[in-house]
Amino acid sequence: MLDVSVQSGVPESTVADVLALFITDPPELSAAASALNERLQGRLRQLVEDGEIKGQLGHVALVHTRGELAAHRLALVGVGKPPKLDADSLRTAASRVVTRLRGIGGGTIAWCLDPSLDLDPTQQARSLTEGTALASFDHGRWKTIEPRPKEIEALVLVSERTDELAELEAAAHRAARTCRWTNRCRELVDAPANELTPAELASAAESIANELAGLSCEVWGPEEIRAAKMGALDAVGRGSANPPRLITVRWEPEEAPDSPVLGLVGKAITFDTGGISIKPSARMADMKTDMGGGAAVVGAMGAIAELTMPIRVVGVVPAAENMPDGHAYRPGDIIMARNGKTIEVTNTDAEGRLILADALTHCRELGATHMLDFATLTGACVVALGDFFAGLLGNDSDWVARVQAAAAASGDHAWELPLHDTYRRHIGSTFADFKNASDLRQAGPIYAASFLAEFVGEGPWAHLDIAGTAYLNRTRGDYFTGAGATGYGVRLAAELASALAAADA
Ligand code: BES
Ligand code: MN
Ligand code: ZN
Repeated sequence: MLDVSVQSGVPESTVADVLALFITDPPELSAAASALNERLQGRLRQLVEDGEIKGQLGHVALVHTRGELAAHRLALVGVGKPPKLDADSLRTAASRVVTRLRGIGGGTIAWCLDPSLDLDPTQQARSLTEGTALASFDHGRWKTIEPRPKEIEALVLVSERTDELAELEAAAHRAARTCRWTNRCRELVDAPANELTPAELASAAESIANELAGLSCEVWGPEEIRAAKMGALDAVGRGSANPPRLITVRWEPEEAPDSPVLGLVGKAITFDTGGISIKPSARMADMKTDMGGGAAVVGAMGAIAELTMPIRVVGVVPAAENMPDGHAYRPGDIIMARNGKTIEVTNTDAEGRLILADALTHCRELGATHMLDFATLTGACVVALGDFFAGLLGNDSDWVARVQAAAAASGDHAWELPLHDTYRRHIGSTFADFKNASDLRQAGPIYAASFLAEFVGEGPWAHLDIAGTAYLNRTRGDYFTGAGATGYGVRLAAELASALAAADA
């Protein structure tokens, strides 16, 4: 985990490989930067005049200090125009320092919190920690030829005030822990399907539960899944030589009240070929990430337990591999879900909503009062919202608003899409209660959510379609510095659990 600490003191005497400072656009030296400018004999002001220090978001000017400061180098980092400044700007600024330092040998980063920014210091501490921890992730762990980028050893947050150190430290530690679980989730999502089968995902969840006191994990195989009448999960998993699992993780701290119980559900298709309704081969490799929702739930359970949040949480992860085979389920098959409803399978590639149907029912049966699921569910959501906002839908406007608030605060952004009964006619079947896919090329994320809504039992439920946000094909130009898994959902779920615990305390 990123070693993060808070120091009170003046930037001049802070020891680090890089000492970083914010520069707003247009560039202006803050009070701290002006003091350093004196020490550096006016070189900073000169660099501003020469246009080498810029306020543009993410721009980094490195200046060697030649022994005039305790830090080896200064980084003057652009955070953009003040009206646009937000937590994401700070995350991005922090990530650029990581990238530069990793290119030149790694080491330690010290960041000066800036009281003149329009973002309170606690939020600055949190965002800088997040940007640093998330940008330090290495997606290339299977590479054996190129040397891996150098490690960031530590982050020191420098505050000139001494009265708020404990609060800053708490915010930074919390962020570092949450991001460590986010990165753990990213490892799972990046992992290829030959390594990460449903059974391997279940072992990962079990070992996380073993690491953390108070966290428990129960894993069911195909026999138990069939015995529990989870006909939908069973059908999807049947075509693979890697049999399905139902993973249930529980966090039940003694001090927590009996209610609310947060239920987190995550789609974990370890590889989605589409099944008999097979996908085209272009970009099919990306479908190793179709377990991003399940990995987010596993990571979130780790974060919630490590942060010992005073709230009951149950995580349910249905895991299966969607393969075509002589045992595979077919288009036209009619199956019965755990809640007794029948489903005509019109497309075996709409498998996510099937496994979620059984998992949502199960999660409610285990006592969840408030449910949220994460799923890489529809390509149409990627078409609609791209790679930044997840699609958010739900059956209860208060609950959706709470999820939305957690999304905005965490940096895992979400945009609400409508769920309305009128759309339900498109999931009606001639033969069964529902069909799993409509052949209309419209409103894909809404039909999928309308289907899920039939399996959530009584009570608030919300759904995040993370098809575009769980995994990036290219950089977003922010603190996710390249292609690969983002860990979407871990930060959001941790924020939501914490807010729910605080609201009901
Ligand atoms: N896993 C896919 C959705 C997906 C697509 C995720 C692209 C990430 C990137 C899902 O199982 C799927 O295949 N959905 C179908 C649904 C359709 C058959 C109704 C889709 O989006 O085409
Ligand atoms: Mn599919
Ligand atoms: Zn899928």
